[in-house]
Amino acid sequence: MRGLKDKVALVTAAAGAGMGKATVYRLAQEGAVVVVTDSHARRTQETTEEFAREFPGRVIGFPLDVSDRANVQEVVSAVEARLGRIDILVNNAGINAFGSVAELSPEDWQRVLDVDLTGCFNMIRAVLPGMKKRGCGSIINIASVAAWNANSSAPYNAAKAGVLALTRTVAAEAGPDGVRCNAIAPGMILTKWVETHWKEIGGDRMARECPMRRGGKPEEVAAVTCFLASDDASYITGEAITVSGGWYMHA
Ligand SMILES: NC(=O)c1ccc[n+]([C@@H]2O[C@H](COP(=O)([O-])OP(=O)(O)OC[C@H]3O[C@@H](n4cnc5c(N)ncnc54)[C@H](O)[C@@H]3O)[C@@H](O)[C@H]2O)c1
Repeated sequence: MRGLKDKVALVTAAAGAGMGKATVYRLAQEGAVVVVTDSHARRTQETTEEFAREFPGRVIGFPLDVSDRANVQEVVSAVEARLGRIDILVNNAGINAFGSVAELSPEDWQRVLDVDLTGCFNMIRAVLPGMKKRGCGSIINIASVAAWNANSSAPYNAAKAGVLALTRTVAAEAGPDGVRCNAIAPGMILTKWVETHWKEIGGDRMARECPMRRGGKPEEVAAVTCFLASDDASYITGEAITVSGGWYMHA
C-alpha cells in the first residue's frame, strides 16, 4: 500500500487478541512506525516488546485509557514530542454491556458511551490540531454493523451509530485541511472473545446467514484499516466500509 512507509500511526486498544493487535502488525509490515496503546498497562508493555523484537526501533507503547481525557492528552503530547507527529490514528477501543434496556444500569450505558463514542472524540480532538497544522492525516474509527442493526445492546448500537456520525462530521470539518476520516463496520470477527462466547452470541446462526459462511479474521479488518490509512485511499473520506462477509445484509 502506498504512503505508509515511515508514517507514525497510533492504535488504541492494541494489546488485546483482536483487531487492534492485528492492525499494529500490518501497519508495521507496511513500514509505519507504530504506537501501541491500551488501557491494560502490562499487556501494553508485553505487546510493545513482542512487536519491537520483530520491528526494532519502530514500535513504542503507552498505557492509554481512551475515556480518560487527561491521559489521552498526556499520551498524544508524549508521542508528538518523541516522534514529532501522529499521521494515522486508529480508534479501535470498544467495549459492550450485555442485557436489555430494562436490565442495563445507567452506569453500564455511560461506560459504553464513554469508551466507544467519547473515546473516539477524545482521541480525535487531541490529534487533529497537529494533523491540520501539517495539512495531512488519516483517522480510522472502528464502528460495527451494530450501528445499523439491533443485534447488540442498546448502548453499543447507539455508540457505534454515533461513531459513524462523528466520522462524517470530522471528515467534513477536516477535509479542507487535508485530513481524511473514515470508519470500518466489522461484522462477526473471530477474536478470542467471540470464539469463547460463540454459543451465547449466536455464532452458528451468523455463520449460516453470512454469504461467506464464516466469521472474519482480525487480519481481514486490519488490511482495510491500512488501505484507508494509505495514499491508495487518498480520495476516500467520510465513508463507512463494511467488513462482514456480506452478513450485514441479513443481520
Ligand atoms: N470482535 C468483533 O466481532 C467485533 C465486531 C464489530 C466491531 N468490533 C469492534 O472492533 C474493535 C476491536 O474489537 P476486538 O474484539 O477486535 O478487540 P481488541 O483485541 O482489538 O481490543 C481489546 C482491547 O481493548 C482494550 N480496552 C478496553 N477498554 C479500553 C479503553 N477504555 N481504552 C483503551 N483500551 C481499552 C482492552 O484492554 C483489550 O486489550 C472494538 O471497537 C469493537 O467494538 C468488534
